[in-house]
Amino acid sequence: MHVYRGRVFTPVADPFAHDVSTSYRYFEHGFVAVQDGRIAAIGERDNAPEGETVDCGDALIAPGFIDTHLHAPQLEMIGSYGGHLLEWLNRYTFPTERKFEDLEHARRVARAFYDELLRNGTLAALVFSTIHYEATDIFFEEAERRGFRGIVGKTMMDRHAPEYLLDKSPRQSYEESRALLEKWHGRGLLRYAITPRFAPTSTPEQLEYAGQLKREFPDAWVHTHISENTNEVRWVQELFPEAEYADVYDHYGLLDEKTVLAHGVWLTAEELDLLSRRRARIAHCPNSNLFLGSGLFPLHRVLNAGVVVGLGSDIGAGTTPSMFNAMADAYKVQQVQGVSLSPFHLWYLATLGGACALSLDAETGSLEPGKSADFLVLDLHATPLLTIRTARASSLEDLLAGLIFMGDDRAVSRSFIAGQLVSSRDRS
Ligand code: GUN
Ligand code: ZN
Repeated sequence: MHVYRGRVFTPVADPFAHDVSTSYRYFEHGFVAVQDGRIAAIGERDNAPEGETVDCGDALIAPGFIDTHLHAPQLEMIGSYGGHLLEWLNRYTFPTERKFEDLEHARRVARAFYDELLRNGTLAALVFSTIHYEATDIFFEEAERRGFRGIVGKTMMDRHAPEYLLDKSPRQSYEESRALLEKWHGRGLLRYAITPRFAPTSTPEQLEYAGQLKREFPDAWVHTHISENTNEVRWVQELFPEAEYADVYDHYGLLDEKTVLAHGVWLTAEELDLLSRRRARIAHCPNSNLFLGSGLFPLHRVLNAGVVVGLGSDIGAGTTPSMFNAMADAYKVQQVQGVSLSPFHLWYLATLGGACALSLDAETGSLEPGKSADFLVLDLHATPLLTIRTARASSLEDLLAGLIFMGDDRAVSRSFIAGQLVSSRDRS
């Protein structure tokens, strides 16, 4: 038994649906007890069980962040400016993803990618790879090497992109996806996501194959994009005139509670109703939506429709892997629409809410007995300015707000997954 002492904070319920005051637990002088990689107990320090004690001082012990949508191969192209979604894809993204034909490049980026996530306190994520079989295999290998909790998938695309970035045939993309799924899905902390890029870059035949794979492996995830940008939505209407965007995925059997759709900025009421009935999830990526000028996500409209929402960085359209930033930008996107989200709502979205969005909430997302010990030790004095802000915090809410708006990787002093130290920042 290891007993970590510090301030302990964890969401335990959805503050959008419950009384906020019962949606979290907080112990100013608290402990987290960890045994065999799992949370054994949390509580007031005086009630801590016997065990090897690790004193974290006044650091905040909190659940690991969960990134519900990002693109590993786009790590190096963060900040590629100019152009909205469709120009941005053609100008920057496709040439960048082409480089993953080169396995040394793939290995280099994969290493940097997981190192960055862990340094930033992201301990679970739903990840796009590229179309390349071997590169995707490498993204799994490097996740496994670090003990990272990853849901990864090979991108499927067979039209409307340069020839060099297209699957050779729908059948081949099915076979390669299936081989990767059989190799990695359920191995340790890794899972597979069937990953058609988005409706415009798949032929109906490829979507049919994606649906077939989902029927054969119903517990696999489905990961794609939807209604991010108005030109994209118009394009989908031209390509699939018989239905709305969400119906296209539904038609091919790609919508259920293991489906995560990135963005959903422009969904209609009918589409939201469909997603709610299918229990599909939305990954809200505020930084990316601002960077690409995609639009302002209508969070409450989506939640009121009964759709589960998580937060994503959407690297490389998002400009940082930091989930502090995702919370801060989510706040701002709602502010300009007249809604002020509290730090408890934001922290929920970045942890337990993300776990719910990824159907991982039985295992992770909060510090509750029985769950995997996936947690962060956050340094409230990581920078001179954060020290000043922390000192004047008048409440837990205010303390969390300071971290949300001023925190970054420097505040993440240690990260643990399943009780194992996966990242450590030595402050000298
Ligand atoms: N839609 C289809 N592909 C992409 C991508 O790589 N990034 C974003 N932000 N949107 C997409
Ligand atoms: Zn994306």
